[in-house]
Amino acid sequence: MEAMPGIRLDVAGSQRFLPAAEVDALGPAVTAAAADLEARRGPGAEFLGWLDLPVQVTEQELAALETSAQRARENCEVYIVVGIGGSYLGARAVLEAVVPGQGPEVLFAGTGLCSEALDGLLLRIKDRAARLCVISKSGTTLEPALAFRFLRAHLQDHYGPDEAARRITVVTDARKGALRAMAGTEGFEAFVIPDDVGGRFSVLTPVGLLPLAVAGADIRALLAGAAEMREACRRDDLRANPAHLYAAVRHGLYAKGYRTEVLSTFHSKLTWFQEWWKQLFGESEGKEGRGIFPASALFTTDLHSLGQYLQDGRRELLETFLCVREGVPGLTVPADPPSAHATRRDRAAGRKPVASRPAGDGLDDLVGRSLDDINWKAYEGTRTAHEAGGVPWQALEIERLDARTMGGLIYLFEKAVAVSGRLLGVNPFDQPGVEAYKKEMYRLLGRP
Ligand code: PA5
Repeated sequence: MEAMPGIRLDVAGSQRFLPAAEVDALGPAVTAAAADLEARRGPGAEFLGWLDLPVQVTEQELAALETSAQRARENCEVYIVVGIGGSYLGARAVLEAVVPGQGPEVLFAGTGLCSEALDGLLLRIKDRAARLCVISKSGTTLEPALAFRFLRAHLQDHYGPDEAARRITVVTDARKGALRAMAGTEGFEAFVIPDDVGGRFSVLTPVGLLPLAVAGADIRALLAGAAEMREACRRDDLRANPAHLYAAVRHGLYAKGYRTEVLSTFHSKLTWFQEWWKQLFGESEGKEGRGIFPASALFTTDLHSLGQYLQDGRRELLETFLCVREGVPGLTVPADPPSAHATRRDRAAGRKPVASRPAGDGLDDLVGRSLDDINWKAYEGTRTAHEAGGVPWQALEIERLDARTMGGLIYLFEKAVAVSGRLLGVNPFDQPGVEAYKKEMYRLLGRP
């Protein structure tokens, strides 16, 4: 099915495991879940602002983001995004996938508590013009708060308190939290995360848009792609609605005992998108003893490690392929270069060296084929092999990675996980389980 121009959803690989009639039977439940979301009903209804973000971001908001980004691009070599979970993964996913890397270098901090990571970052930015973008909806999360403290001290040493303050932007709640209060007293530039958008659904707010604009991404195309996909994800017909169909198939498989979903890609620039997807699905669905465990694999690399398990291990896996047809089309397999040995031999015999020889590396049958084409055949071969091995699959096939298709994928998965969480009977918009580790850590630290 064409989800939107440039993105296709193929569910053929699930049919042997989940007959079409069983998918269609889920239609009414999916429609009801989607209608509840549209009507802002059900658990987590206060966090549904992301549904309309692609068509609600105003020209004024975009202009403010672009102005701030332009200023940052002019006065820093390194732009440090401080945030964890939904406060950085979306920006990083799009950045790694489609940003050409011509603006300031964008680095990420506050994504953990590892001293080596922070020390390495401080060394890396030592003598470089830096800016900070601190992102936290609650404004109280320990990891980014600690990183901010170290990095702010670094900026103050380097620039003095006034210029340091001018080099800090915060993205946080409109009213609550320590960051909001500091922005007020210290005079930091500030952007708002809307009340009705939770962390992992916030990439199309300043949380994602600001760092991406600084990095040089086309944030208007990102939003336009999300808006196109939003339309597709409002279609009534289950078979024509990519988010609903994807959610129905994985839910049907879940009910049959498939408990782990592997998001597999053959494109190395999508590994951070896989991380974003894992957070989106893991935090939204994994609760009350329910939910599919989200995992990821980068092929063909992981076909030489996880591939064995996928083909032959415990049979409770489903797989979603995320494939890109066009990368660098000009990268075609060259003719075999003359071998040094044969060249020496020909020269010694007074002959002109011959370019290609049957005794070379055995790849002559592939001469002239593009690496993209060979990679695509690897994808087609892998899905056939995995299906034969008992792994149902769906596939999202993307013509080419750009801001528009990334926006489309983001919206598709957000809508799918919302419907899917409702089908499971959980609230997809909270994350009560995340508090448990914090409570124990704070107890051990003697914090209130
Ligand atoms: O999806 C979520 O809500 C979480 O992953 C948060 O984004 C993450 O815990 C960071 O929270 P905060 O932005 O409040 O620092």
